[in-house]
Amino acid sequence: MRVAQTGILAETPSHAIYVSYQIADFSALAAVLPDLQQYVDGEGCVAGLGASFVNALQASVPGLSDGFDIPGSRVTLPQQSIALWLWLRGEDRGDLLLAERVWTQRLAPALVRYQRIDAFRHGDGRDLTGYKDGTENPVDELAIAAACVSSANTALTGSSFAAIQQWLHQFERFEAMTSEAQDHAIGRRRCDDVELEDAPTSAHVKRTAQEDFEPEAFVLRRSMPWSAGNRAGLMFVAFGHSFQAFEAQLTRMSGAEDGVVDALFQFSQPVTSHYVWCPPMIDGQLDLSLLGLQQA
Ligand code: HEM
Repeated sequence: MRVAQTGILAETPSHAIYVSYQIADFSALAAVLPDLQQYVDGEGCVAGLGASFVNALQASVPGLSDGFDIPGSRVTLPQQSIALWLWLRGEDRGDLLLAERVWTQRLAPALVRYQRIDAFRHGDGRDLTGYKDGTENPVDELAIAAACVSSANTALTGSSFAAIQQWLHQFERFEAMTSEAQDHAIGRRRCDDVELEDAPTSAHVKRTAQEDFEPEAFVLRRSMPWSAGNRAGLMFVAFGHSFQAFEAQLTRMSGAEDGVVDALFQFSQPVTSHYVWCPPMIDGQLDLSLLGLQQA
């Protein structure tokens, strides 16, 4: 039976490294597949393939694209196509660092590391602004329904489409706001996480209220704070059974529909976005049959 990589449905870990790769040697690419099948366990390492990887193998993953197109967006939404994305998850930062080295050596010469980002859990799952993140995530069966393809018996069953968006916070701007203005920007009260009925239409949770879309736009968010030197922010990650819900939310955040830009942009900006497809697991192994690799 095809099931999701378990790390997608689990709580976020204490530490993580997000590492992305680009193709360096097309002729060596197919040789990477058995390594992914053997070493991606879906728990300590969640893997996602970009369209460039799939296309280079002349394979096809229905629904996978290189990115979004939001005509009329009032904000800049940079995107970067990547070949492979690994979300290394764990409790010990040193172990993750060493695991990243092993992966990068293993994937050479086919793939070369493009970016590595260190992430961590803050408090009880908070963004660095102090707001609890993930409150309105669907749970249990609803989480699986939102995050994974459910159609029975296709090679896509149990897989997820992941939108990854790195946001860079401008802490000085956030700190210059009153705490009431901060709560109104998010649409929730930081001290007790209560949703504010009187928040403006630009409030983040008003822009993204999942049941307010037609069709409803539920995703499973597994975002984590990141830092590098004195830069920091949120690594936003949304898993869906397609990219549709994420794109609907981002479109509304961007002001493309009604000219109202999400208040988050007052103090944070996305610096890059990637789209990847996270294959399902079958008998404890990554199922890469869509790419032409049979189970070992
Ligand atoms: C700097 C970046 C971001 C921060 C700090 C942030 C933070 C938050 C916080 C604090 C909440 C309220 C609690 C919760 O339900 O999780 C929330 C809700 C939500 N956010 Fe974000 N978010 C960010 C980016 C995004 C992006 C890019 C999207 C999608 C394109 C998004 C989609 C959502 C959704 C769907 C909800 C739940 C809305 C609901 O149904 O009530 N967020 N976010």
